[in-house]
Amino acid sequence: MPIKALLFDLDGVIVDTAIFHYQAWRRMANSLGFDISEEFNEQLKGVSRAESLDIILAHGGLTLSDETKAELAARKNEWYLELVSQMTPANILPGVTDFFAQVKAAGLKSALGSVSKNARLILERIGMLDDFDAIIDGTKISRGKPDPEVFLKGAAELGVQPDECVVIEDAVAGIEAAKRGGMLAVGIGEPTVLTRADLVAGSLAALTLNQVLSLSAMNR
Ligand code: G6P
Ligand code: MG
Repeated sequence: MPIKALLFDLDGVIVDTAIFHYQAWRRMANSLGFDISEEFNEQLKGVSRAESLDIILAHGGLTLSDETKAELAARKNEWYLELVSQMTPANILPGVTDFFAQVKAAGLKSALGSVSKNARLILERIGMLDDFDAIIDGTKISRGKPDPEVFLKGAAELGVQPDECVVIEDAVAGIEAAKRGGMLAVGIGEPTVLTRADLVAGSLAALTLNQVLSLSAMNR
């Protein structure tokens, strides 16, 4: 099966909003009297807002009503959006623009596959809303990563099969989602963290499209 499409995660792959999510959640945890470490934060990457809150509250040993949880999730999102509102195209991570140029030149399709309900807003701020052939975000799915729904919908909207897709992801849950969906997965981050990825690079700047395409040849 030749590779026909690349499915990109947003937070931590295209832009460094992963750090904004962490800062906003940390602010919320601190306001409740406990802290969360960067290492703890790894398990929140790719996980929906509501699920992230549940994981954080369990970590802090707190059980709260659904009403209070809804308030906390809304407050975290306000803090997060304060950070997002300052974003510009300068926030696009190194290597992204060049990698997209390679994808387009090779005639491959691309889709966004993010659990975030703020994905379109972020793409607008960084001027990349028109760079994807399909955008699947948190408003279009009912299950977050590691469920493969977001990527399977992306493949369907592009009109390609899962085994014709490569997912580019920075989250453990996102790599797992790609694998469950029957797709190849490239991790952006540390090989010791993203152990299930077919290939890991430090950033898109350290990755060429040829590396991704030869990976698919190796696996078939
Ligand atoms: C992405 C991020 C997660 C975030 C989720 C929901 O998957 O990696 O950290 O919790 O989106 O984002 P949202 O913007 O809807 O709160
Ligand atoms: Mg991510």
